[in-house]
Amino acid sequence: MKISIIGTGYVGLVSAVGLAELGHQVWAVNRTPEKIAKLQQGELIFFEPGLDKLLRKNLKNKRLYFTTDFAAAVNNSDFVFICVGTPPKADGSADLSAVKVVAGQIAQAARKNLIVINKSTVPVGTGRLVEKILKSNGHKFEVVSCPEFLREGRAVYDFLNPDRIVVGATKQAVGRKVMSLFAKLKTHKLVTARETAELIKYAANAFLATKISFINEIANVCEKVGANVEQVAQGIGLDKRINPYFLKAGIGYGGSCFPKDVKALKQIAGSMGYDFKLLKAVIEVNNGQRQNFINKIKKELVSLAYKNIAVLGLAFKDNTDDIRESAAIDIVRALEKAGATIKTYDPEAMATAKRVLSRKTVFCDSAYAAAAKADALVIATEWPAFAGLNWAKVKQLMKGKIIFDGKNLLDQAKVEKLGFKYFSVGK
Ligand code: UDX
Repeated sequence: MKISIIGTGYVGLVSAVGLAELGHQVWAVNRTPEKIAKLQQGELIFFEPGLDKLLRKNLKNKRLYFTTDFAAAVNNSDFVFICVGTPPKADGSADLSAVKVVAGQIAQAARKNLIVINKSTVPVGTGRLVEKILKSNGHKFEVVSCPEFLREGRAVYDFLNPDRIVVGATKQAVGRKVMSLFAKLKTHKLVTARETAELIKYAANAFLATKISFINEIANVCEKVGANVEQVAQGIGLDKRINPYFLKAGIGYGGSCFPKDVKALKQIAGSMGYDFKLLKAVIEVNNGQRQNFINKIKKELVSLAYKNIAVLGLAFKDNTDDIRESAAIDIVRALEKAGATIKTYDPEAMATAKRVLSRKTVFCDSAYAAAAKADALVIATEWPAFAGLNWAKVKQLMKGKIIFDGKNLLDQAKVEKLGFKYFSVGK
């Protein structure tokens, strides 16, 4: 099939490469010539493990093309995927301006009938809005929703091994046609009404975020009653109705999706006169989790003035260079504000973090360099490599012997045996 993908961010590029890998002919469109030039050379414009290999493979196979020529791409295709950003506005609602601009461009450029597929996370009813914008063009358009469930850092795997594919359409036959694009993927396939598909995406992310806030509340209770949240999570996660995933307590969720989508769903419900109380609490707990952790550090170190603190991790989670809504960034800022000097290291996110952190922050070449002479060390991202550090060496390098593990990443018994004073979340 011939497909255009509008937007080459996380969702757009992974979808373009993934659909080419499934055998389709794909034109990926971005209006920035520099980005297109890089992608044409097989170079990624953001970090995503495994994506570069498939990108180069499909460029070589001539199944994947990159272009700034919107009209040419669209008129060469039968399907057009809208994969542009929908960042949050001040009130938490999704900013749809990029989606509207693309719909307007399709309306102007299209010289044929098309199936237009929304892959951007958009509020319920956006399909109808896009349909309305496309009406100004005389051709026949079907507007479909096909939400993405990709995790950053594991996006290639998730695209090729999805738990399910959801397609929402106003006509079953159109939904099935879009679903046929994924014929090679053996998984659960759900064709629904368009509004239902739009809501599935928000409901999935809001549910996962709720699980995280729930276990974080349990962690806070664990600290009060002397229980261990990891064992509680294991104990409840063995119940198949609960399952063990997304039950890791810590400094709360971040990233480009959970914070934005939870706020957006709360706002969508509110705009329809429904007060989504649970989501308000999920957000409140998540914000509180960072603050609790900062308070824990302040309490133990008494004063942060002139203290050297090593912060390991800046990305919102492991395997990505993305720092959007990262708890680690908030923690660095709060500690600096309280007078501490921060030396930090992240395997991938240093360049992105440098753009937002203060000039005072010291960026180091390794975790060991960050730890040198530190009074305390903070783990703020769950990079597995941090767990694998030579902690005896870290202890020798540090001045103080205190670890604050915001991701419950380290083996408590092991580091305590080495003589560290160890603080984590919910233990
Ligand atoms: C998420 C969804 O998982 C994905 O399906 C959707 O399409 C996009 O949003 P992503 O934001 O890439 O993916 O990251 P995810 O792995 O879900 O983690 C989100 C945040 O939750 C991270 O900050 C992570 O550290 C945190 N997290 C995750 C926890 O605190 N505890 C957990 O048990 C799991």
